[in-house]
Amino acid sequence: MAVSIKSAKELERMREAGRILNYTLRTLEKAIRPGMSTLDIDRIGAETIRSFGCVPSFFHYNGYPASICVSINDEVVHGIPDKHRILKNGDIVSLDAGVIYKGYHSDAARTVAVGEVSEEAQQLMDITKQCFFEGVKYAKAGNHLNDICRSIADFAESHGYGVVRDLVGHGIGAHLHEDPEVPNFNMGRRGIRLKPGMTLAIEPMINVGTWEVEWLDDEWTVVTADGELSAHYENTVLITDGEPEIFTLNDSL
Ligand code: MF3
Ligand code: CO
Repeated sequence: MAVSIKSAKELERMREAGRILNYTLRTLEKAIRPGMSTLDIDRIGAETIRSFGCVPSFFHYNGYPASICVSINDEVVHGIPDKHRILKNGDIVSLDAGVIYKGYHSDAARTVAVGEVSEEAQQLMDITKQCFFEGVKYAKAGNHLNDICRSIADFAESHGYGVVRDLVGHGIGAHLHEDPEVPNFNMGRRGIRLKPGMTLAIEPMINVGTWEVEWLDDEWTVVTADGELSAHYENTVLITDGEPEIFTLNDSL
């Protein structure tokens, strides 16, 4: 499928979806504390998104049973909120959510500390976030997709981390997942040429140990194969002729 170029009107909707999502994730980050359940997080997130008259895009997406993906420690992505799953001091928790505003999507993730975390955990979270910013440096018209992918992988691997290969970033717009796929590893080819008006969800998923992952029996939760920690950081990004615009880092709400 061809990669869509969004009109000014479409971009305005995505910008608003991004602003609301960033506000939602900030709300969750502030609310997180030991003793909370992952279902508490889902409730707060869904209520916040719906308070803007928007729809949490993950809700019932391919049968996903909740609104926010909440993944703890060795869980990479797509953890299912559960009232019996309680956050404890020292955990790291990734929060992944999507918003639909007037038919247009935003998608973003943050990994946050619960109370005091180990140095290993803090470094993983910091480097994973930095991986996104290394990649986004290349998110400019005229560059090729693999410029983003390769720079994320190189940065993560220079710190000895494993880069998840089984899940990738993606185009986004009128649908949560559009072309192109945006891997966090070197594709071994240049990939498409980036053009103004393309919108991408860039989302490094980085492991302390091996890059290999497994699926739990719930058919959603992805965990590291070696049980080591994993982190996730994602934003919805607009390609322009100049600096990329990061819709889900807009703090104006
Ligand atoms: N956040 C995921 C992504 O970035 C999608 C979550 S799928 C869901 O592609 F089913 F959990 F919603
Ligand atoms: Co995504």
